[in-house]
Amino acid sequence: MGFTPVTTEALVVLEPHTGFQRLPIILNEMRDNEVLVEVLYSGICHTDIVGEDGGFPPVHYPAIFGHEGAGIIRQLGSAVKDKSLAVGNSVILSFNSCGSCKSCETGFPGSCFSHTPLNQHSGRIDQTHLATLEDGVTVSSQFFGQSSFARMTDVSERCVVKCPYPESLSIYPGLGCGFQTGAGTILNALKPKPEDTVAVFGLGSVGMAAVMATKYAGIQKVIGIDLMDSKIELAKQFGATHTINPRTTPDVVKEIHSLTNGSGVDYLIECTGSTKVYDNLVDFLSCRGIVALVGVPPVGHDLKLDTTRMLLENKVVRGVVQGDSVAQKFIPEMIEMHRAGHFPIDRICTIYPVEHLEQALEDIHTGKVIKAIFAW
Ligand SMILES: NC(=O)c1ccc[n+]([C@@H]2O[C@H](COP(=O)([O-])OP(=O)(O)OC[C@H]3O[C@@H](n4cnc5c(N)ncnc54)[C@H](O)[C@@H]3O)[C@@H](O)[C@H]2O)c1
Ligand SMILES: [Zn+2]
Ligand SMILES: [Zn+2]
Repeated sequence: MGFTPVTTEALVVLEPHTGFQRLPIILNEMRDNEVLVEVLYSGICHTDIVGEDGGFPPVHYPAIFGHEGAGIIRQLGSAVKDKSLAVGNSVILSFNSCGSCKSCETGFPGSCFSHTPLNQHSGRIDQTHLATLEDGVTVSSQFFGQSSFARMTDVSERCVVKCPYPESLSIYPGLGCGFQTGAGTILNALKPKPEDTVAVFGLGSVGMAAVMATKYAGIQKVIGIDLMDSKIELAKQFGATHTINPRTTPDVVKEIHSLTNGSGVDYLIECTGSTKVYDNLVDFLSCRGIVALVGVPPVGHDLKLDTTRMLLENKVVRGVVQGDSVAQKFIPEMIEMHRAGHFPIDRICTIYPVEHLEQALEDIHTGKVIKAIFAW
């Protein structure tokens, strides 16, 4: 079946810092390995806001961001390998990967050798784009394989995860990035044991999902840290046994040591992306402790490490992308955790009509909402 160009609309960022503008776009071409998806809901991740702000230098503007889409398959390319996918299926969209490098082949697509060009550069790996504005100007698209801030989008089949519960689709978009990243960092990447101590720095959608996952994993001591008391209160309900607000307790290192009998934590999950947090990250750790860098710092930020102490204290600092998840496996697992009452993401999702996008962005900014989702 051929592809007839589709006129649809998207939230287009014309230049950095100019906001998301609802504009008509044309999807001109769909590849054989791609899937045409009507996006019904799109979660807003902090990374999209960074994109609007010009924080991904390789991205050319105009550009469409959005990488937590959920919707319905409207057309399948002829070379799509997953024969269980069908037109009409409800799907959740996640990040892209090449499928053939060593990381992809060994079950770590988040560490795909082509992760950056496939996800952060916004466009296919051959630097083509699927969309244009009405005047023919090319729009950078397939951000994180998706560009799901659009009513319709074409994505690689590797981004597509079938959703068996279409009635819950509105609260599932965050599973494609933020929730997967937080929960996966605990359950797939670090795998702490119940007696280990875990600190989660930053209680946004990523950090809050990490806290929920620690409870699911039976971790007995979990320290949640954020600047906002409202998020701290929520984290207590989701699994944080101790909390710290650096505004009222500025010496967080000292407080963490006093909460862990002087030793420091076994795992620290950095989910703020704030450079204020990075300087003394390893001081929070116990000997053999691990810092997981999850939050995205400004481009070019360097981490200062005392090499001798790193060596003598056997500490590890590592990055974790997308919670070391295989989306097609982990998203269904998180869905079942949610349905069984172990992953209460519905309590941190707020759905806005797309017309109220500005309100959603304002509520994210003030911390009133944790996972904002807009409905097309
Ligand atoms: N590694 C990945 O694969 C991946 C995936 C998704 C998001 N991210 C990144 O993870 C980070 C978190 O994403 P999010 O959507 O949860 O963002 P968010 O803005 O919702 O959450 C960040 C939280 O950090 C808190 N915070 C900021 N500065 C702080 C400080 N100095 N001390 C304590 N708390 C502080 C904020 O109050 C907020 O609650 C972002 O940097 C995002 O870009 C990474
Ligand atoms: Zn790969
Ligand atoms: Zn994201």
